[in-house]
Amino acid sequence: MIVLGIESSCDETAAALVRDDGFVLSDVVASQIALHAPFGGVVPELAARAHLEAVGGVVDEAVRVLPHGLRDVDVIAVTQGPGLIGALLIGVQFGKSIAWALDKPIVGVSHLDGHLLSPLLRRTETDEVPEFPYVALLVSGGHSALYRVDAPDAISLLGQTRDDAAGEAYDKVAKLLGLGYPGGPLVDKLAARGDARAVALPRPMLGRDALEFSFAGLKTAVARHVEKHGLPADDAARADLCASFQAVIVEALVTTSLRACEQEGVRRLVITGGVAANAGLRALAKSRAEASSVELFIPPFASCTDNAAMIALAGVHRFTRSGPDALELAVYSRDPRRRRGRFGADGKLIAPR
Ligand code: KG4
Ligand code: ZN
Repeated sequence: MIVLGIESSCDETAAALVRDDGFVLSDVVASQIALHAPFGGVVPELAARAHLEAVGGVVDEAVRVLPHGLRDVDVIAVTQGPGLIGALLIGVQFGKSIAWALDKPIVGVSHLDGHLLSPLLRRTETDEVPEFPYVALLVSGGHSALYRVDAPDAISLLGQTRDDAAGEAYDKVAKLLGLGYPGGPLVDKLAARGDARAVALPRPMLGRDALEFSFAGLKTAVARHVEKHGLPADDAARADLCASFQAVIVEALVTTSLRACEQEGVRRLVITGGVAANAGLRALAKSRAEASSVELFIPPFASCTDNAAMIALAGVHRFTRSGPDALELAVYSRDPRRRRGRFGADGKLIAPR
């Protein structure tokens, strides 16, 4: 079975082909970063228009590896949500058009399921994938949450951020320091050269057993620091502030993830989402996981950031389990699984935690 995935929930237009064994046949991503950069964040209406312009070409390129192109696709998987409604609609309508015109089955999948299953993608024949169950830390521009993944259709939310997502905090601090957009990679690079003890910033206090995050206070503390001392005068001062900020975030992410592994009795940790690219996070997660005898999996960057291969893979599992969706399938902006607990494939709460 070959599944075509289409992703358009935020600022990447993406299409990919994935086989039912998780092997990636093609993976095409058109990024809108340059379009939104002047605004310091994603502008929803511009995103939707750019998706509309890009989606045809991106899908064309993804199916080029098949002898008969789209006709060789067995199932179409589209990101149904969560995300920007106008943006989601473009990918979903495009997928529906193909499904209708070529009489192919379509399934709607959750963007978050895509991220959580992304470590199961294989890009070379020798790629290793984690076994179930695993604890997954999903850290991106829109999400910071911990999940327990027992199977593709048995995912439980363990806890999440009370306010900002980690990537959002990075982007806001970068904007504050005038570094540019998206801020994560820029702050990460500067942090590598700075002294993490240079600026005292508050660590979020959420209780010893909490599986939650909070990054809004930290962002405010950076803003206060800048108000009081002015913008860092040179590169060294900028690097020190970035390093101090990053140390607090990374410590919270790693400590809480390993706490989740401990509480769940699971010795496998996956880190995914755009922030998984962070060098400081990777280094600390590696050393702490080793010390706690937890196996660590961080998928390659192409699988961590928004992509359509993860959507196609989530589609493989969705289709195998429950067959096609009706062509009327709708988009949604907010994650229906916001409560802690175990959820069914349709997003309905099965067992609260
Ligand atoms: O998963 P992603 O591509 O898109 C979604 O938000 O779904 O994640 C993008 C986020 C942005 O906030 C970006 O600043 C952050 O990931 N990011 C990083 C790094 N690379 C990307 N944050 C910290 N360090 C990085 N190296
Ligand atoms: Zn994402």
